[in-house]
Amino acid sequence: MVLSVRNLQANYGSLKVLFGVDLDLGEGETLALVGANGAGKTTLFSILTGLLPAAQGDVQLQRRSLSGLSARQLVRQGIAMVPEGRKLFPSLSVEENLMTGAYAGRPGPWQLDRIYELFPTLEPLRNRPSPALSGGQQQLVAIGRALMANPILLLCDELSLGLSPSAVDTVYAGLRKVREEGVSMVIVEQDIARALTESDQFACMRHGEIALSGVSRGADLAAISAAYFGEKHHA
Ligand SMILES: Nc1ncnc2c1ncn2[C@@H]1O[C@H](COP(=O)(O)OP(=O)(O)OP(=O)(O)O)[C@@H](O)[C@H]1O
Ligand SMILES: [Mg+2]
Repeated sequence: MVLSVRNLQANYGSLKVLFGVDLDLGEGETLALVGANGAGKTTLFSILTGLLPAAQGDVQLQRRSLSGLSARQLVRQGIAMVPEGRKLFPSLSVEENLMTGAYAGRPGPWQLDRIYELFPTLEPLRNRPSPALSGGQQQLVAIGRALMANPILLLCDELSLGLSPSAVDTVYAGLRKVREEGVSMVIVEQDIARALTESDQFACMRHGEIALSGVSRGADLAAISAAYFGEKHHA
Protein backbone atom coordinates (compact mmCIF):
# COMPACT_ATOMS: atom_id res chain seq x y z
CA MET A 1 0.00 0.00 0.00
CA VAL A 2 1.22 3.50 -0.81
CA LEU A 3 -1.56 5.36 0.95
CA SER A 4 -3.95 4.24 3.59
CA VAL A 5 -6.37 6.53 5.29
CA ARG A 6 -8.35 5.31 8.28
CA ASN A 7 -11.31 6.95 10.00
CA LEU A 8 -10.13 10.40 9.01
CA GLN A 9 -12.12 13.20 10.57
CA ALA A 10 -11.70 16.94 10.16
CA ASN A 11 -13.29 20.11 11.44
CA TYR A 12 -13.10 23.79 10.60
CA GLY A 13 -13.63 25.19 14.08
CA SER A 14 -16.92 23.72 15.25
CA LEU A 15 -17.96 22.71 11.71
CA LYS A 16 -17.44 18.99 11.14
CA VAL A 17 -16.38 18.36 7.55
CA LEU A 18 -14.97 14.82 7.32
CA PHE A 19 -16.76 12.05 9.17
CA GLY A 20 -14.47 9.05 9.03
CA VAL A 21 -12.91 8.66 5.60
CA ASP A 22 -11.17 5.39 4.66
CA LEU A 23 -9.08 5.03 1.51
CA ASP A 24 -6.44 2.65 0.18
CA LEU A 25 -4.18 3.18 -2.78
CA GLY A 26 -1.61 0.74 -4.14
CA GLU A 27 1.71 1.53 -5.76
CA GLY A 28 1.35 3.13 -9.19
CA GLU A 29 -2.42 3.29 -8.87
CA THR A 30 -4.60 6.28 -9.63
CA LEU A 31 -7.66 7.00 -7.54
CA ALA A 32 -10.31 9.35 -8.88
CA LEU A 33 -12.02 11.28 -6.12
CA VAL A 34 -15.38 12.66 -7.18
CA GLY A 35 -18.18 14.36 -5.32
CA ALA A 36 -20.33 17.48 -5.30
CA ASN A 37 -19.22 20.92 -4.15
CA GLY A 38 -18.48 20.92 -0.45
CA ALA A 39 -18.21 17.13 -0.17
CA GLY A 40 -14.77 17.42 1.43
CA LYS A 41 -12.36 16.52 -1.37
CA THR A 42 -10.08 19.53 -0.96
CA THR A 43 -10.26 19.18 2.82
CA LEU A 44 -8.92 15.64 2.49
CA PHE A 45 -6.02 16.99 0.38
CA SER A 46 -5.40 19.71 2.97
CA ILE A 47 -4.88 17.05 5.61
CA LEU A 48 -2.69 14.89 3.37
CA THR A 49 -0.46 17.90 2.69
CA GLY A 50 -0.32 19.15 6.27
CA LEU A 51 -2.32 22.33 5.71
CA LEU A 52 -5.03 21.21 8.13
CA PRO A 53 -4.61 18.92 11.14
CA ALA A 54 -6.84 15.85 11.34
CA ALA A 55 -9.29 15.79 14.21
CA GLN A 56 -9.21 11.98 14.33
CA GLY A 57 -7.87 9.05 12.37
CA ASP A 58 -4.63 8.07 10.74
CA VAL A 59 -2.87 8.47 7.41
CA GLN A 60 -0.04 6.15 6.39
CA LEU A 61 2.31 6.53 3.45
CA GLN A 62 4.08 3.26 2.66
CA ARG A 63 2.89 2.00 6.05
CA ARG A 64 4.40 4.85 8.02
CA SER A 65 2.10 7.10 9.98
CA LEU A 66 2.19 10.74 8.93
CA SER A 67 0.46 12.13 11.98
CA GLY A 68 1.89 15.37 13.27
CA LEU A 69 4.15 16.03 10.28
CA SER A 70 4.35 19.57 8.88
CA ALA A 71 3.63 20.49 5.27
CA ARG A 72 7.35 20.66 4.58
CA GLN A 73 7.99 17.26 6.18
CA LEU A 74 5.18 15.71 4.14
CA VAL A 75 6.77 16.91 0.89
CA ARG A 76 10.02 15.36 2.10
CA GLN A 77 8.13 12.09 2.76
CA GLY A 78 6.90 12.13 -0.85
CA ILE A 79 3.51 13.83 -1.02
CA ALA A 80 3.10 16.63 -3.55
CA MET A 81 -0.01 18.48 -4.63
CA VAL A 82 -1.23 20.36 -7.68
CA PRO A 83 -3.60 22.76 -5.93
CA GLU A 84 -6.91 23.91 -7.32
CA GLY A 85 -6.34 27.10 -9.33
CA ARG A 86 -2.65 26.18 -9.85
CA LYS A 87 -1.30 28.81 -7.44
CA LEU A 88 1.81 29.58 -9.45
CA PHE A 89 4.11 32.33 -8.23
CA PRO A 90 3.19 35.18 -10.62
CA SER A 91 6.47 37.04 -10.17
CA LEU A 92 8.51 33.99 -11.18
CA SER A 93 9.28 32.58 -14.60
CA VAL A 94 8.11 29.16 -15.73
CA GLU A 95 11.46 27.60 -14.87
CA GLU A 96 11.68 29.36 -11.51
CA ASN A 97 8.21 28.05 -10.68
CA LEU A 98 9.31 24.54 -11.59
CA MET A 99 12.42 24.90 -9.42
CA THR A 100 10.37 25.85 -6.35
CA GLY A 101 8.99 22.31 -6.44
CA ALA A 102 12.45 20.86 -5.85
CA TYR A 103 13.08 22.53 -2.49
CA ALA A 104 12.59 19.35 -0.47
CA GLY A 105 15.59 17.88 -2.27
CA ARG A 106 14.14 14.43 -2.79
CA PRO A 107 16.24 12.45 -5.26
CA GLY A 108 14.48 10.91 -8.26
CA PRO A 109 13.92 11.06 -11.99
CA TRP A 110 11.92 14.29 -12.11
CA GLN A 111 14.38 17.04 -12.98
CA LEU A 112 13.91 20.03 -15.29
CA ASP A 113 14.87 18.10 -18.43
CA ARG A 114 12.32 15.38 -17.65
CA ILE A 115 9.58 17.97 -17.15
CA TYR A 116 10.40 19.56 -20.53
CA GLU A 117 10.39 16.10 -22.08
CA LEU A 118 6.97 15.42 -20.56
CA PHE A 119 5.59 18.84 -21.60
CA PRO A 120 7.62 19.98 -24.64
CA THR A 121 5.51 23.13 -25.04
CA LEU A 122 7.01 24.49 -21.82
CA GLU A 123 10.64 24.46 -22.86
CA PRO A 124 10.51 27.48 -25.24
CA LEU A 125 8.47 29.31 -22.57
CA ARG A 126 10.92 28.61 -19.75
CA ASN A 127 11.95 32.25 -19.21
CA ARG A 128 8.47 33.73 -19.57
CA PRO A 129 6.70 35.08 -16.50
CA SER A 130 4.12 32.45 -15.56
CA PRO A 131 1.10 34.82 -15.95
CA ALA A 132 2.00 35.21 -19.65
CA LEU A 133 1.04 31.57 -20.27
CA SER A 134 -2.40 30.25 -21.18
CA GLY A 135 -4.42 28.52 -18.47
CA GLY A 136 -3.62 25.12 -19.92
CA GLN A 137 0.10 25.86 -20.07
CA GLN A 138 0.00 27.14 -16.48
CA GLN A 139 -1.60 23.88 -15.41
CA LEU A 140 1.30 21.98 -16.98
CA VAL A 141 3.70 24.15 -14.98
CA ALA A 142 1.78 23.38 -11.80
CA ILE A 143 1.99 19.64 -12.51
CA GLY A 144 5.68 19.96 -13.37
CA ARG A 145 6.36 21.86 -10.16
CA ALA A 146 4.72 19.11 -8.09
CA LEU A 147 6.68 16.43 -9.96
CA MET A 148 9.94 18.25 -9.22
CA ALA A 149 9.40 17.09 -5.61
CA ASN A 150 9.78 13.51 -6.91
CA PRO A 151 6.61 12.43 -5.14
CA ILE A 152 5.51 8.93 -4.26
CA LEU A 153 1.97 10.29 -4.16
CA LEU A 154 0.72 13.11 -6.39
CA LEU A 155 -2.53 14.83 -5.43
CA CYS A 156 -4.30 16.75 -8.22
CA ASP A 157 -7.20 19.04 -7.35
CA GLU A 158 -9.60 20.04 -10.16
CA LEU A 159 -7.01 20.03 -12.93
CA SER A 160 -9.49 20.65 -15.71
CA LEU A 161 -11.37 23.54 -14.12
CA GLY A 162 -11.64 26.42 -16.60
CA LEU A 163 -9.53 24.75 -19.29
CA SER A 164 -10.49 24.19 -22.93
CA PRO A 165 -11.23 20.58 -23.95
CA SER A 166 -7.95 20.34 -25.84
CA ALA A 167 -5.99 21.69 -22.86
CA VAL A 168 -7.69 19.08 -20.66
CA ASP A 169 -6.62 16.38 -23.11
CA THR A 170 -3.01 17.60 -22.93
CA VAL A 171 -3.09 17.58 -19.13
CA TYR A 172 -4.38 14.02 -18.95
CA ALA A 173 -2.04 12.76 -21.67
CA GLY A 174 0.79 14.04 -19.46
CA LEU A 175 -0.65 12.43 -16.35
CA ARG A 176 -0.90 9.09 -18.12
CA LYS A 177 2.86 9.20 -18.71
CA VAL A 178 3.42 10.10 -15.07
CA ARG A 179 1.29 7.11 -14.11
CA GLU A 180 3.43 4.86 -16.33
CA GLU A 181 6.44 5.98 -14.30
CA GLY A 182 4.82 4.43 -11.25
CA VAL A 183 3.72 7.57 -9.40
CA SER A 184 0.58 6.95 -7.37
CA MET A 185 -2.07 9.61 -7.81
CA VAL A 186 -5.31 10.90 -6.42
CA ILE A 187 -7.16 13.09 -8.90
CA VAL A 188 -10.19 15.22 -8.13
CA GLU A 189 -12.20 15.63 -11.32
CA GLN A 190 -15.72 16.99 -11.86
CA ASP A 191 -16.25 15.08 -15.09
CA ILE A 192 -17.11 11.62 -13.80
CA ALA A 193 -16.66 9.86 -17.14
CA ARG A 194 -13.22 11.40 -17.53
CA ALA A 195 -12.36 10.59 -13.90
CA LEU A 196 -13.17 6.92 -14.51
CA THR A 197 -11.15 6.67 -17.75
CA GLU A 198 -8.07 8.15 -16.10
CA SER A 199 -8.10 6.02 -12.95
CA ASP A 200 -7.89 2.50 -11.55
CA GLN A 201 -10.18 3.10 -8.59
CA PHE A 202 -12.78 5.69 -7.75
CA ALA A 203 -14.23 7.03 -4.55
CA CYS A 204 -17.31 9.22 -4.46
CA MET A 205 -17.54 11.57 -1.48
CA ARG A 206 -20.70 13.04 -0.12
CA HIS A 207 -21.08 15.17 3.00
CA GLY A 208 -17.65 14.22 4.30
CA GLU A 209 -17.95 10.48 3.79
CA ILE A 210 -17.11 8.00 1.06
CA ALA A 211 -20.56 7.24 -0.32
CA LEU A 212 -19.37 4.74 -2.94
CA SER A 213 -16.04 3.33 -4.09
CA GLY A 214 -14.84 0.67 -6.47
CA VAL A 215 -12.91 -0.24 -9.57
CA SER A 216 -13.11 2.41 -12.32
CA ARG A 217 -13.20 0.08 -15.30
CA GLY A 218 -16.80 -0.84 -15.96
CA ALA A 219 -18.07 1.18 -13.00
CA ASP A 220 -21.78 1.90 -12.94
CA LEU A 221 -22.19 5.59 -13.85
CA ALA A 222 -25.79 5.68 -12.66
CA ALA A 223 -24.78 4.34 -9.24
CA ILE A 224 -22.00 6.92 -9.01
CA SER A 225 -24.37 9.73 -9.97
CA ALA A 226 -26.80 8.54 -7.35
CA ALA A 227 -24.08 8.52 -4.70
CA TYR A 228 -22.86 11.92 -5.94
CA PHE A 229 -26.22 13.61 -5.73
CA GLY A 230 -27.23 11.80 -2.61
CA GLU A 231 -30.30 9.92 -3.63
CA LYS A 232 -31.18 7.61 -0.83
CA HIS A 233 -31.40 3.90 -1.52
CA HIS A 234 -33.45 1.90 0.91
CA ALA A 235 -32.76 -1.80 0.70
N1 LIG B 1 -11.26 27.22 5.21
C1 LIG B 1 -12.50 26.81 5.51
N2 LIG B 1 -13.14 27.27 6.60
C2 LIG B 1 -14.38 26.85 6.91
N3 LIG B 1 -15.07 25.94 6.19
C3 LIG B 1 -14.49 25.45 5.10
C4 LIG B 1 -13.17 25.86 4.69
N4 LIG B 1 -12.85 25.20 3.55
C5 LIG B 1 -13.91 24.43 3.27
N5 LIG B 1 -14.90 24.58 4.19
C6 LIG B 1 -16.19 23.86 4.21
O1 LIG B 1 -15.88 22.48 4.32
C7 LIG B 1 -16.75 21.70 3.50
C8 LIG B 1 -15.91 20.87 2.54
O2 LIG B 1 -15.27 21.75 1.63
P1 LIG B 1 -14.19 21.26 0.58
O3 LIG B 1 -13.56 22.48 0.02
O4 LIG B 1 -13.31 20.24 1.20
O5 LIG B 1 -15.12 20.56 -0.49
P2 LIG B 1 -14.80 20.07 -1.97
O6 LIG B 1 -15.33 18.68 -2.07
O7 LIG B 1 -13.37 20.29 -2.30
O8 LIG B 1 -15.73 21.04 -2.83
P3 LIG B 1 -15.49 21.73 -4.28
O9 LIG B 1 -15.97 20.73 -5.28
O10 LIG B 1 -16.38 22.93 -4.22
O11 LIG B 1 -14.05 22.08 -4.39
C9 LIG B 1 -17.69 22.68 2.84
O12 LIG B 1 -18.87 22.73 3.63
C10 LIG B 1 -16.95 23.99 2.91
O13 LIG B 1 -17.85 25.07 2.97
MG1 LIG C 1 -12.39 21.39 -3.71
